[in-house]
Amino acid sequence: MEVIIKTSSEEAGKEAARIVRRQILKKPASVIGFATGSTPLKLYSELVALFQSGSLDFSQVIAFSLDEYVGLSPNHSQSYAWFLQEHLFGKLNIVPEKIHAPDGMAGDIAQHCEDYEKQISQAGGIDLQILGLGSDGHIGFNEPGSSLASRTRLKSLTGQTIADNARFFNSPAEIPRHVITMGVGTIMDARHCVILANGIKKAKAVAAMVEGPVTASLPASILQMHRFCTLIIDEKAACQLQRTEYYLWVYKNKPEWQKA
Ligand code: GLP
Repeated sequence: MEVIIKTSSEEAGKEAARIVRRQILKKPASVIGFATGSTPLKLYSELVALFQSGSLDFSQVIAFSLDEYVGLSPNHSQSYAWFLQEHLFGKLNIVPEKIHAPDGMAGDIAQHCEDYEKQISQAGGIDLQILGLGSDGHIGFNEPGSSLASRTRLKSLTGQTIADNARFFNSPAEIPRHVITMGVGTIMDARHCVILANGIKKAKAVAAMVEGPVTASLPASILQMHRFCTLIIDEKAACQLQRTEYYLWVYKNKPEWQKA
């Protein structure tokens, strides 16, 4: 795993945007998986700026959302479909038919999840998957204990995730307890994973993910076994890492051709 430590969350977002840009320039019809949460917001505003300045064209990009709350329609202001529309898709020239997302209102959830997996394979698989990191080490909504081989499916949230996400809802009773999420195995199939984390609240999960054992108790740790994973963090999120100097050295001495 490549660990990139930036001085601020803004710089981390810009670095991630450079990676997305390089991917789209290399393959205009890239299949990109998008995450929600506050962490990728800087990345998304950078992508919007690149589009608005005419430096990046999203017209051929195929998008897949990582997860969704069960029981929230795409018109609900806290649904992840709404979030991505508000912060990203609605501000780009991405073609609506090329945007895919789990449907929180699906009647037959198991069938819907199977169909979502099929849509991903029919698109040729995910070229670049954007991820955030839960403070309990989840990716997507794959909570601790999730099968490391799991595919898109229904999951129940942990108390910690419900508490972490409570700030977005008017009352605790409104927070959905169930979600649909790409599985850990689905994420691991992506050709490149870019995972972002910022702030002191993520420091423990970041250290466990990068330098701890690979375990289903911390699903993000499986990314140690991913063929091409880039972790981009700010200094606060990096503060519990042991090999910081090495990560900084590697980044500074990166060959020109490897740079984003
Ligand atoms: C939710 C999402 C995750 C996201 C996490 C972190 O649980 N399902 O994909 O990574 O929140 O959110 P934030 O970036 O707001 O800390």
